[in-house]
Amino acid sequence: MSLLLTGGMGYIGSHTVVELLSRDQDVVIFDNLANASEAVLTRIEQITSRKPHFVKGDICSREDLEQVFSNFNIEAVIHFAGLKAVGESTEIPLSYYHNNVSGSVNLFEVMAKHHCKRLVFSSSATVYGEHNQSPLVETMPTSATNPYGQTKLMIEHILQDLAKSDPQWSIVNLRYFNPIGAHQSGLIGENPKGIPNNLLPYVAQVAVGRLAQLSVFGDDYDTPDGTGVRDYIHVVDLAKGHVKALNKLTDLPGCHAINLGTGNGTSVLEIVETFKAASGKDIPYQIVPRRAGDIATVFAEASKAKELLNWQTELDLSAMIADTWRWQSMNPNGYE
Ligand code: NAD
Ligand code: UFG
Repeated sequence: MSLLLTGGMGYIGSHTVVELLSRDQDVVIFDNLANASEAVLTRIEQITSRKPHFVKGDICSREDLEQVFSNFNIEAVIHFAGLKAVGESTEIPLSYYHNNVSGSVNLFEVMAKHHCKRLVFSSSATVYGEHNQSPLVETMPTSATNPYGQTKLMIEHILQDLAKSDPQWSIVNLRYFNPIGAHQSGLIGENPKGIPNNLLPYVAQVAVGRLAQLSVFGDDYDTPDGTGVRDYIHVVDLAKGHVKALNKLTDLPGCHAINLGTGNGTSVLEIVETFKAASGKDIPYQIVPRRAGDIATVFAEASKAKELLNWQTELDLSAMIADTWRWQSMNPNGYE
């Protein structure tokens, strides 16, 4: 029996592949390489001394999905595949709805046809919208402020309906907070195409000399130092959360939303200071106006994951930043 990881070549997927292979699981990666490099496979092999199966395929293609389900005996799926850039989603919304929502419906249909009804889905803290007060709890009302967030919310709703319609499904929607960091080996990490949208890859590229300076989006928020506060979580802790969720699926029918975060908030300026200390590099920055759509403070109530999955984070902010820096300094141009 194998586990299928759609989007398994990407940032979070590749770290989860490593955790699964090191627990002797059989893994099939299914990825169209829209936002990933094939070099990831060699790196995974270097870390684990094992080679996952890799199928180049698209969740939007029924044929690609049928083929992988016919060729492998898939017992469960972790569904990472998706487009994830918030800004881009406002420019090309149809591509996001097609890729993320239609692609996911395809996947769920093919899973059902092959009697594979265990699923872990990559959702996001973005489904809490802008009106809830942190700490964010799974029972809070959900909403979305951009097409990317809408796709996550729609898929969560589709999965709730699916689980209601057929009690054989076991589904966990993992709501990630802000994944950062990299594998301790420095061999795999986040490799954004073009100018990074997210804080950590941006800061890392300033430190390594690829970018001149960071723009800090606003210092007039109602937070201790005026800059935005987020719940950063080490990608290896996040990957381990997927292993725990997979194991739980065997005795957890229905559809469940679970936060994966630390429960702590860190400001932009605290990130900059911690990065400076870890890297020994200067991080020049300037304060610029707020970025549209950002909110002041986002952090998780993390107790449900602890109670239900027996999972909690183990790696602190200094480990997150040290590992980001190791990855960036060992691979100044990512996988290229
Ligand atoms: P990523 O872009 O590194 O990985 C996604 C992978 O999916 C890529 O390898 C890409 O090539 C693949 N892919 C995209 N469309 C595909 C398709 N149609 N068919 C097959 N493969 C396809 O992103 P990530 O950071 O690893 O995120 C993984 C998942 O977690 C995404 O669904 C993302 O929305 C979600 N998520 C990410 C974050 C974050 O900050 N990184 C936060 C919350 C949720
Ligand atoms: N920031 C800067 N400068 C930058 C980039 C970010 O000051 O160049 C600030 C932002 O204003 C925010 C913080 O750094 O206060 C974190 O920003 P990110 O873009 O790294 O992360 P977000 O919290 O905005 O977004 C993340 C994911 C989204 C997801 C969202 C909600 O990237 O996919 O969390 O869960 F939708």
